[in-house]
Amino acid sequence: MKKKYTIVTYGCQMNEHDSEKISWLLENLGYEWTDNKEDSDFIVYNTCLVRENAELKVYGQLGALKDLKRRKPELILAVCGCMMQREEARNVILEKYKHVDIIFGTNNIHKLPILIDRHKQTNETVVDIIEDTRDIDDNIEANRKYSFKAFVNIMYGCNNFCTYCIVPYTRGRERSREPESIIKEIEQLASEGYKEIMLLGQNVNSYGKTFDYKYTFADLLKDVNKIDGIERIRFMTSHPKDLSDELINAMANLDKVCEQLHLPVQSGSNRILKAMNRKYTREDYLLLIEKLRKAIPDIAITTDIIVGFPGETEEDFQETLDLVKKVKYDSAFTFLYSTREGTIAARMENQVPDEIKKERFQRLLDIIYPIFLEKNQKYLNKTVEVLVEEVSKNNDEILSGRTRTGKLVHFKGTKDLIGKFVNVNIDAAKTFTLEGYLV
Ligand code: SAH
Ligand code: SF4
Ligand code: F3S
Repeated sequence: MKKKYTIVTYGCQMNEHDSEKISWLLENLGYEWTDNKEDSDFIVYNTCLVRENAELKVYGQLGALKDLKRRKPELILAVCGCMMQREEARNVILEKYKHVDIIFGTNNIHKLPILIDRHKQTNETVVDIIEDTRDIDDNIEANRKYSFKAFVNIMYGCNNFCTYCIVPYTRGRERSREPESIIKEIEQLASEGYKEIMLLGQNVNSYGKTFDYKYTFADLLKDVNKIDGIERIRFMTSHPKDLSDELINAMANLDKVCEQLHLPVQSGSNRILKAMNRKYTREDYLLLIEKLRKAIPDIAITTDIIVGFPGETEEDFQETLDLVKKVKYDSAFTFLYSTREGTIAARMENQVPDEIKKERFQRLLDIIYPIFLEKNQKYLNKTVEVLVEEVSKNNDEILSGRTRTGKLVHFKGTKDLIGKFVNVNIDAAKTFTLEGYLV
């Protein structure tokens, strides 16, 4: 009988993709996937630290596993991801969760087989962390969730130091992956039948800045656009400060680059943007939106917004409300500001009380949800191209997939359509999804 493993993943697409790599490594060691922790011989927690609730969930889950580990001492428990890149979090694990066997980080995933060996030989908790993103092995394969769309890392780390954000302290210094290596990976994916590529980086617009030759993110998009078999190209995340005209032109002119952009604004107040170290003003941002809509008329724009950054006044918040009304986002991730130890904002005075944060958060949702609906209603009675992704969990006659603009569409169909492009006529629009029928 094969030994079984499971991976619990928190956080962003970087972590999701890292888990796909960990899965590949474990299957090469002979492990087989299970959804059930009780059945597992190897459990991995791939952690996130971006907000406090992400962190607390991991401690809760690890605590709950103490009993399983007692009953099944041969079970190997590993914790990795962004939390483990922070010494404070590692120390909590080493002191309070002694049943954890292996601790590793975001930059040394390739070492997992060696760490497992070391643990088996010594039966001690093995800790291995590398700070330097230059040590990341670009060539580990991934056991991907889908067979038709794939994540591809194009850069690692972040140098922006937005004052609220812990990522630069976990993922380390920004490093762009060599274009040849990226292209080779995508050509391989295309030859295996993959159709959609999501290029991943914390700040893809600054791709190439660490090279000693000139090669920009727009150059990379042009090269990826040439790869036969790939039909859709997406990327995330874009930082407004680095969104160049060259990139907007590339997006407009390259047929495979989807009409979609995630452009986190964080706040609509210039005073708060400055305190966040975002390096753009609301005017800069609104100008970008104007340019994008002019160059790519059907573009869907989504964003991230933080409510209750230290010092945010009612006037600052009003500026955010005003900006979201002006931009009319297709969708947005909204967050209550969460204090992250070690960041500059954590040391700022005048932290906003929780009740005020929550009240503002609700007012923001009351404004943005109707905008999302209004945006989705524009699709009514139109035919859209959908890449079919999966069968609905609740009803096996219903499929779901995404438009080029990233909209989730539900429609009736059979599962042989998964991984294919179909045309769907939209006959209902909701706040977060569209519904339609095959044509
Ligand atoms: N590199 C990406 C994503 C970073 S994390 C970017 O720059 O957009 C994703 C989102 O989490 C951020 O855009 C931000 O809105 C949110 N976030 C980061 N730190 C946070 C904090 N301390 N409190 C609340 N939200 C936070
Ligand atoms: Fe965090 Fe800012 Fe870097 Fe994004 S760009 S990961 S928000 S520091
Ligand atoms: Fe979380 Fe790390 Fe991503 S802190 S949001 S998993 S980069």
